[in-house]
Amino acid sequence: MRIAVYPGSFDPITNGHLDIIKRASRLYDKVIVGVLDNINKKPLFSVNERKKMIEQVTEGIANVECDAFSGLLVDFLKQKNAEVIIKGLRIVADFEYEFQMALLNKALNPEFETVFMMTNSQFSYISSSMVKEVAKYSGGLEGLVPGQIIPDIRKKYNN
Ligand code: PNS
Repeated sequence: MRIAVYPGSFDPITNGHLDIIKRASRLYDKVIVGVLDNINKKPLFSVNERKKMIEQVTEGIANVECDAFSGLLVDFLKQKNAEVIIKGLRIVADFEYEFQMALLNKALNPEFETVFMMTNSQFSYISSSMVKEVAKYSGGLEGLVPGQIIPDIRKKYNN
């Protein structure tokens, strides 16, 4: 069984993330969305809130599950019997940092492969931080994040 981990902060999950999850779920037997539990990053949503939103929007995909992790990504993969790290690439600016992380993860555990998936062009401008910026000023979130989680985001900003 080929298990892939799609790691990230998902603060919150966007339509771009969801697109990668759906496409990865067709390539691997199981996709585990790994939600980074790192208080240093000062997320808007708690790890449980982020996990709940991901579970809600991936409910219909049978081979996708979600779990939180802290510490090293390679340790999470080992714990989950996974061998592939899925990363989405949107713009050229993503490349340098992702390249560095892929090489570091390779150095930490050469058995794991990082697989990059190109974003769907319609989602290339979406990021969790942009979503938060729009939400903060009560802008429209339709098309940026899955409709089911818009109320959760609105609630955070009281709008
Ligand atoms: O959505 P993000 O914040 O860009 O995701 C970053 C993430 C979670 C993939 C990265 O920070 C990570 O893998 N953190 C776990 C700690 C770790 O393994 N660090 C060494 C490799 S970068």
